[in-house]
Formats: sequence, C-alpha cells, structure tokens
Amino acid sequence: MKYRIAWIPGDGIGPEISEAAIKVLNTLQNRFSLNLDISFYPAGDGCKASCGMPLPEETIQGVKNSDAAIKGPVGETAADVIVKLRQMLDLYANIRPAKSYANLPYVKNIDLVIVRENTEDLYVGKEFEVNGGAVALRVITEKASRRIAKVAAELALLRRKKVTIVHKANVMKKTCGLFVRSVKEELAKYPELFVNEVYVDAASMMLIRNPEVFDVIVTTNLFGDILSDEAAQVAGGLGMAASANIGASKALFEPVHGSAPDIAGKGIANPYSMILSCKMMFEWISNKYNDEDLKKAASFIEQVCAEALSNGIKTPDLAGEFTTDQVAERLCGLVLTE
Ligand code: NAI
Ligand code: MG
Repeated sequence: MKYRIAWIPGDGIGPEISEAAIKVLNTLQNRFSLNLDISFYPAGDGCKASCGMPLPEETIQGVKNSDAAIKGPVGETAADVIVKLRQMLDLYANIRPAKSYANLPYVKNIDLVIVRENTEDLYVGKEFEVNGGAVALRVITEKASRRIAKVAAELALLRRKKVTIVHKANVMKKTCGLFVRSVKEELAKYPELFVNEVYVDAASMMLIRNPEVFDVIVTTNLFGDILSDEAAQVAGGLGMAASANIGASKALFEPVHGSAPDIAGKGIANPYSMILSCKMMFEWISNKYNDEDLKKAASFIEQVCAEALSNGIKTPDLAGEFTTDQVAERLCGLVLTE
C-alpha cells in the first residue's frame, strides 16, 4: 500500500538528520518493497524568515492530507509550530520511550516510556501581563486526563504492566488533583496493572538513582517535557530520543530534542533520533492499516540501529567518531546485508 508522508525538515540540525533518515528509508523501501510517497513542507525559524510565517497553510494542509507526518526539530518558533500542530490536530498523546542500547554512554540501563498529555497544562499559552507581573493559566481537564490514562494503560499492558502517575498534587491541589483523580479512575479499569504515584521532584531524582523502577510514566505536559529530556540523557543521550504525537486518527513523529544550533552545519548531529522516530511512525501506520511488511520494517530499523551502535557506529555526542552521513551510510549497509 502507498502511504503519503508529510516531512518537515525543520531548522538547525533538522535538515541534516532528515537527509540521513531518508537515505536509510530509501534503502529500506527497496528491501521491504515499501511504497512511501514523501512530500516536504516548510516550517520553523527559516520558514518564518523567508515567508513571514513559521507554520504556513501549505504545511498544515500537507500534514492534514498525509497518512502520517514527521518533523525535524525547529528553533525558537517551536511553540508556533509543534505546539500549534499538536493542538490543531488534537495529537493528545506524546509517547517518549527512553531505552539504553549497548555501547551507549548511559548513566543507567533503562527501558521506560513517558506518556505525556500533549494539549493542555501551562502549554496552552495563555499568559498575561498584570499590574507589573505576569500570570499563566494552567489548564487541566478530566477528559484529557482520562484519555491520556487510557493510552498509558494500553501501552503498559504490552510491556511490564506498571503505570506510575507523576504529578505535584500536594501543591497544585486543583489542577494536579483533578489529573490524578481522573487518571486513577481510568487506570482502575485495568486490574492487571500495577499503579503507583510519585511527585515530580522525587521522580526526577529516581530517574537518575533507580530508573529501573519505571515502566510507563503518565504525566502532564510540562512535567513530561522536562522528564523526557532527563530520561533520554540517562538512557544515553538526547540524540537517541524519538517520540510520537498521537491523536484519534492523525499522528506526527519527531525527535525529542531541539535544533541544536551549537552543532548545526558541522555534519556531526546524531541521526538515530530521527531514524527511530521513523520506526515509531512505521509502527503506528502498520497498526492502523494492519500492514505486516511495515511492521517488520519497523522492528528491523531498531535491530539495525542496535547492531550499528554495538559496532561503535556513533556520532561525537555518544563518544563516537562518525559523521551524520557516515552513520547513515553504515546503516544503509546493514539494511542491505542483515
Ligand atoms: P537542543 O535539544 O537543541 O540541544 C540541547 C543539547 O543537546 C545541545 O548541546 C545539542 O547539541 C545536543 N543535541 C540535541 N540533539 C542532538 C543530536 N541529534 N545530536 C547531537 N547532539 C544533540 O535544546 P536547546 O539548545 O534548548 O534548544 C535549541 C532550539 O531548539 C531552541 O530554539 C528551542 O526552541 C528548539 N526546540 C525545538 C523543539 C521541537 O522542535 N520540538 C524541542 C526542543 C527545543
Ligand atoms: Mg522538550
């Protein structure tokens, strides 16, 4: 089956890691007889500079009309691009796995998934200046809390069957209070699951001290954003971190990290985050359309990445010596020979 993929290269290292990922996908297409129809769309700081808008209508329509979308990181316009797309398409679940592979400079060997509510909290962008100060609205609803709980529960059933609710209801009694109550009620519908709660400050400590206690973490938008960068680093590095933004019928995949302006243009960006985001995209499409070939291709991507890492095919952020392009070339070689 032919799938239309909307691809936003983004800013900074975005185009570099996109090019690397596309090389690998093209090699995979031949091997698995896949039929991906990739169209490119602009968004981000560069797009704002050239056309006056960080997220033009053409890109919104391209994403809406695709079977799945994938984006590289954007820069300072992130709130106008990714936060907008999440809200506009109601991509309410942000799935962020943190997994250490062999031969990574990981702090602890971990395998967990952060399920982050993706549409509300302080990220609704309702900020106001008031009498020489500033206030922000924190929006939490029962509906959004219940539906993110359901995503966490269903994911945990496929894993180690544990869900940890991360919050700060001891201080934010109304907002986090509603979140925890709603999530707990929803999770109670899954008696096979072990459910516990941890305050966000303690959770950030435990992610470093004993991250193996976590299987699936379900949390609100801001906490999930912060904890997922931390978990990624504990697992080996932000350059490995892939993610999915999932709604009822649409999904958008992207690396967890930003546009990394400090290394952009040097050819040393780690492309695994983008390639593993493609893996998550293949998994989602294959589940939606029951496509066994694509499912096989998804697990093959992870297998090849793990193999490459254990052979030391790594960029400098992972204490390796390969360039972005060399990693892509070596992955293509493995795709053809494995
Ligand atoms: P960042 O994630 O871009 O970089 C943090 C550190 O990680 C830097 O040292 C960077 O070099 C390194 N890093 C990140 N990805 C890497 C990769 N693939 N390979 C090797 N090293 C990598 O975070 P920062 O510096 O806070 O933000 C830079 C820009 O990115 C900002 O303008 C921000 O708004 C934007 N941003 C965009 C996001 C998105 O598009 N979803 C998400 C987060 C930030
Ligand atoms: Mg972030």
